[in-house]
Amino acid sequence: MAATEYREEQMTGRITGLGSYLPEKLLTNDDLSGIVETSDEWIMERTGIKTRHIADHMKEVPSYMGGIAAQRALEDAGVSASEIDLIVTACSTPDKMFPSMACYVQKAIGNDGCMCFDVSSACPGWLVAFNTAQCFMESGNIRKALVVGTECLSNYVDWTDRGTCILFGDGAGAAVIEADETMPANKFIMHATSNKAECLTCESRMQPDRWEEEGFLKNTYFQMDGRDVFRFAVTEVPKIIKELSAKYEFDLNDVDYFILHQANARIIETIAKRLGQDIEKFPMTVYDTGNISTASIPNLLDRMKKEGKLKKGQKIVMSSFGAGLTWAANYIEY
Ligand code: ACO
Repeated sequence: MAATEYREEQMTGRITGLGSYLPEKLLTNDDLSGIVETSDEWIMERTGIKTRHIADHMKEVPSYMGGIAAQRALEDAGVSASEIDLIVTACSTPDKMFPSMACYVQKAIGNDGCMCFDVSSACPGWLVAFNTAQCFMESGNIRKALVVGTECLSNYVDWTDRGTCILFGDGAGAAVIEADETMPANKFIMHATSNKAECLTCESRMQPDRWEEEGFLKNTYFQMDGRDVFRFAVTEVPKIIKELSAKYEFDLNDVDYFILHQANARIIETIAKRLGQDIEKFPMTVYDTGNISTASIPNLLDRMKKEGKLKKGQKIVMSSFGAGLTWAANYIEY
């Protein structure tokens, strides 16, 4: 059993391993145009999404996908499961109400005894999980953590609503972070406002007394005011990134990559413009994954690593936004 003993050194974690999982089944824009009234041209122009991965719902549930992504991250880091002190998982679409998804990830990797819990903060959930793990590390309580994002959004999409079903996909991503004495302190900002909560919601179906209520079951699928969410993202993400650079005194021109939540290429392009930064610094996977919520940032990082784009010491800004409304940004050294 892994023992999480108190350690006195207070260190920040460096990402040392990355892993991801995407279901094999693909759903293209042309496939979607056979389900709802839409077209490849409309979806590409408004979102930049061409295809998305859709889970086999009998097998590729979030606990399963998160477990595989975590195993792959451990392999990539060269860390054994028993060395992990903490698993934090972010998931908005869990296949079990309890135990936590983190406990299933623990089982999948073969750890016994480490701390395990989930965080719920919609799409920025993976950044929230990352910052939570960093706080544990900086308090000197842990040395190695797994931070996982995993989602099966296709189960929560109304497949008759062309305004939402074109956007989302399924998948998981994970990172191993290890305490490193050469790392500067973790730099982050997280915000939430419930004033605009109604522009992105999904009610729990487990309220059987309400099933007869008019419109209730419809509300157990994604309900979104796309224009409001778009406006929120292109306003608040540039603002929080500027706030981050002012708070931690770094120059945005020195940032190697801006790793943004992969919701919509048009949102990312607008943010790049508003920050006055070259779009080449904003890598994207949204083209072939769609929006995979908490899994989007670790998934993108994993792909960049496999493509040889990540080098130790690079300066990276990560930022995400989602239901709540919530938004967050980090400035890290890779
Ligand atoms: N195909 C064809 N037409 C469509 C489609 C579609 N898939 N969806 C909507 N339309 C129609 C609408 O019915 C509307 O028609 P009308 O003018 O006759 O009424 C027209 O297109 C314009 O609709 P809008 O909703 O205004 O389209 P918009 O340009 O805003 O694009 C979109 C919609 C792509 C959803 C955009 O608003 C967006 O990307 N918003 C952000 C969404 C997002 O990122 N959400 C998730 C973030 S948080 C998280 O990850 C959970």
